[in-house]
Amino acid sequence: MAVREVLIDPDPRLREVCPPVEVFDDAFRERMADLIDTFQENQWIGLSAPQLGLLERVLVIDVSENRDAMEVFVNPEVLQASRQAIVEESCASVPGVEGKVMRATRLHVRAQDLNGQYFDAALNDMRAVCLQHELDHLDGKLFVDRLPFWRRWRRKLSAG
Ligand code: NI
Repeated sequence: MAVREVLIDPDPRLREVCPPVEVFDDAFRERMADLIDTFQENQWIGLSAPQLGLLERVLVIDVSENRDAMEVFVNPEVLQASRQAIVEESCASVPGVEGKVMRATRLHVRAQDLNGQYFDAALNDMRAVCLQHELDHLDGKLFVDRLPFWRRWRRKLSAG
């Protein structure tokens, strides 16, 4: 188990579409222990495996105040999404940028746990928003891709 460095945009690994997890063995769970250690150490509300260079469909979230409600989603799929809202987001892989994006605030998700067991979950509000942000990472997308075009343009200019 180890805390790892988080990849920073424009690292090309952040742009990969991650393949599903098919083998739920000890080596997999050891890699995911690094994901969880890094997540807990930094006290983020969400983290995805590709942000550590692990190109597999796993994300972890915890939006609780006491950080006692960590949830791991392997191969998550959104079954239903509703109640769109504008929310403010930021991302450890895109330091120094905040922006408002549109997200569903009600979600039904099907996923697997670290042993491959399937479960369904209903998520609301912050928990739903956080899951969608991390799910984007599994598809090689960053929240800045969802900002209005003029914000992306301005960012490009300042990036040189
Ligand atoms: Ni992020």
